Amino acid sequence: MNQVSVGILGCGTVGSGTARILIEKKDLIFSRTGVDINLKRIADIDPSRGEGLPIGQGVMTTDAVSVIEDPEIQVIVELIGGKTVARDFMIRAINSGKHVVTANKALLSELGGEIFPLAQEKSVDLAYEASVGGCIPIIKSIRESLVGNTISSIRGILNGTCNFILSRMTADGCGFDDALSEAQEKGFAEADPTLDIDGFDTAHKLAILNAIAYGMNINLDDIYVEGIRDISAIDIAFASEFGYTVKLLAISRQVNGSVEARVHPTMISKDNILASVNGSLNAVTISGDCVDKVLLYGHGAGMMPTASAVVSDIVDVARNIVFGGQGRVPLLSYRPESLSVVPVKPMAELQTCYYFRFAAADRPGVLSRIAGVLGNHNISIKSVNQRGRRVGGNAPLVMLTHRAVEADIRKAVLELAELDCVADKPVVIRVEDENGNL
Ligand code: HSE
Repeated sequence: MNQVSVGILGCGTVGSGTARILIEKKDLIFSRTGVDINLKRIADIDPSRGEGLPIGQGVMTTDAVSVIEDPEIQVIVELIGGKTVARDFMIRAINSGKHVVTANKALLSELGGEIFPLAQEKSVDLAYEASVGGCIPIIKSIRESLVGNTISSIRGILNGTCNFILSRMTADGCGFDDALSEAQEKGFAEADPTLDIDGFDTAHKLAILNAIAYGMNINLDDIYVEGIRDISAIDIAFASEFGYTVKLLAISRQVNGSVEARVHPTMISKDNILASVNGSLNAVTISGDCVDKVLLYGHGAGMMPTASAVVSDIVDVARNIVFGGQGRVPLLSYRPESLSVVPVKPMAELQTCYYFRFAAADRPGVLSRIAGVLGNHNISIKSVNQRGRRVGGNAPLVMLTHRAVEADIRKAVLELAELDCVADKPVVIRVEDENGNL
């Protein structure tokens, strides 16, 4: 019988879900693949995490190195997370000739420059479907299903915690802190929720997608990142009045040989398909020259959805082992010699539309002073709204602009913050819809 033995490092939420699928769906997987996937060992510093799993005696261990060095184990599944111990174990596994499956987007996006070349050199598979979008088969879609397409853009909701928070704030008008606590209780948030709410988890995922979509080296530092911490209920309410929904989007676009790569709260039309992706769900649209657009949608976090993606990688690797397919699909979608340094467009050159909210004094002449500053910086106003709401004695004045250049917006914001009729720095949110951007 074709048997492949697997060791899991880390028996937390995703590790235990993966173990459960491998054991409970063993026959189903065999009937589909002809491969008997044998979950031989699971390592965790807390062996009690294995309690309740349908595993035999001796499967659970605290000794990860013994799992990596077990000569029968061909596939190491790294589900520890983080960038220290996980990195060391991953390197050790690759150096021992083991194929590796991981969900660790922080590790791949920050240390991929070390790990992918090593896996290539050692001729082992390194599979990472669960690192982006939980159960959504985005990596496989880009690397395999869309192989004949020149990909022009990727836009997605890639963080369930942020999407949950923004959806709750939109539906119930609740505050950011309450919505975050609820997301944490539900278990989508990272151990350190700042990675979620400050946009870095989304940026990790976008860095991976950019590499496989555009054939560029993984470069997290090139991605502009802004989180959702400063989004308030009042901006969500104004957005709604203008016909928009606020989402934390990952956006990349390839234009004339350079790539635009950014993560920030974005107002999108309520008609946009991404606007109706709510709760902890993720969705991503990929634009390619042959397909026009593909939309993928599903659970971006959670035990069984994420474990489903891990199992799909284990099965791919096991098939490669049994049927001799290692190297069939390049690890980063492009052959290593075809990966290149693709220039990333500086954020200051971005052109999009913008939403401004000013805490402005409610007296004659204020609007013209603000409009004057914007005009001096080539920013054209599309609409203005000033309603009865008052924040700290000032009336919120809200504006939408036509397309403007980010550098001009930044200069205008600095100048506007100095006006005596404007309290506080204006709130600025990018709007993506003019010219059918999304
Ligand atoms: N914390 C992530 C999210 C899940 O909220 O989407 C895994 O990436």
